[in-house]
Amino acid sequence: MSEAPVLDHSCDGIEELDNPLPRWWLYLFYLSIVFSLGYAVYYPSLWFWPGTSGWTQEKQWATSTVARTAVAAAAEVNLGELAAKPETVEAGRKLFSSNCASCHGNNAEGKIGPCLTDSEWKFGSEDKNILETIRKGRPGGMPAWGSFLKPDQVTTVAAYVHSIGNTTGPKGAPK
Ligand code: HEC
Repeated sequence: MSEAPVLDHSCDGIEELDNPLPRWWLYLFYLSIVFSLGYAVYYPSLWFWPGTSGWTQEKQWATSTVARTAVAAAAEVNLGELAAKPETVEAGRKLFSSNCASCHGNNAEGKIGPCLTDSEWKFGSEDKNILETIRKGRPGGMPAWGSFLKPDQVTTVAAYVHSIGNTTGPKGAPK
């Protein structure tokens, strides 16, 4: 360090040495310039330059909206169709055992929560009613499962509820 030349100015007797910048720092600096040039070419950067990637805010926005619409479309599932697949009903039954049976009973005959196998439905037994009940919960003590279960788990357990609904008399008694 001491062999670095002293610059030709001093301030209150403090002199400045003309040390070169550290190598690693310089290389990082050059690398960042190369990167930013590549970035500026690839993406829209200057007012006249649309970028070679074809990326636009509008397209980005459209993709995220499409993703959201796909989720919304998944909300319009057909529970009857799902319940026609035995493996879906079986998966739904397992979800029901671990999440719902504590309140609704092992066979959904009703405990704290109402019986789900009879034909009495406070909130309706249409697909959208069952899905909304499970997803958002109901004020009388039915928790909202939309934030605990994944969307496909909600539809799966809903398909199970659909499959057992309207099959028995009150409290699970045979019809
Ligand atoms: C903490 C207890 C509890 C758990 C756990 C629970 N429920 Fe409920 N559920 C209730 C109660 C209480 C009601 C009645 C709500 C009301 O009347 O406002 C209800 C209502 C319902 C209804 C509407 C019934 C109707 O008559 O319209 C459905 C469907 C339902 N639950 C499904 C489920 C499913 C599926 C699960 C598991 C993912 C589940 N519940 C877990 C307590 C629970």
